[in-house]
Amino acid sequence: MIIVIDGPAGSGKSSTAKKIAELLDIQYLDSGALYRALTYLWLMNDKPDLPEFFKILPGVKLDAEYRNQTFIINVNGEDITKDIRTQQVANHVSEMAAQPEARKFVNQYMRKLVMSDAYIADGRDLGTAVFPDADLKFYMIASLEERAKRRYRELISDDPSISFEEVKDNLKNRDHQDSSRAADPLKKDENAILIDTTGKTFEEQIDEMVGIIRDKI
Ligand code: C5P
Repeated sequence: MIIVIDGPAGSGKSSTAKKIAELLDIQYLDSGALYRALTYLWLMNDKPDLPEFFKILPGVKLDAEYRNQTFIINVNGEDITKDIRTQQVANHVSEMAAQPEARKFVNQYMRKLVMSDAYIADGRDLGTAVFPDADLKFYMIASLEERAKRRYRELISDDPSISFEEVKDNLKNRDHQDSSRAADPLKKDENAILIDTTGKTFEEQIDEMVGIIRDKI
């Protein structure tokens, strides 16, 4: 079984998917973390030209696993779970994610992973491109202001130098890049159920979505 949640940056997809995974006792897959891992690797290698960088991809060993409420990412044996959450990675990830080679690598990894168990996954193109036959598809949205407030609250404890405007601009830029790129852009699938979380509490939105899942699956 695969349930997908797509939507713009900071719309609450990952916290929602994690909670639903816990309630339904299924696995969680964070597809954005995989693009962030490639971006981190690219930056760590001093940002070579992308065609050069993609030559090393066949030798990259990626391991992702949701454990203790954390989506843990290992690349070539190194735990980079925290490193992929920096603003520097956030500022470059949409450039990486626009590359068909990067998408092919991530999609192959995800399709293989979900064959082993029941999953809820979140991303941008899961309902439209990666899992078009998903058992259930959601598309989550919220106003830019509310998304920026939530993301700012998450980031400020790890990086006190960060500003609200910087976070908001990053979300806005990523949404623009993610929805205007040629390769599998951010888009609502016609069969996806729209969930607008603006003004809703976390509990309200979880109740609504779990209700839909129990109804349909
Ligand atoms: O979900 P998160 O904000 O961590 O995703 C980081 C970035 O990864 C997005 O801004 C987008 O560029 C890319 N992404 C994507 N397709 C997905 C998931 C994420 O292009 N399915």
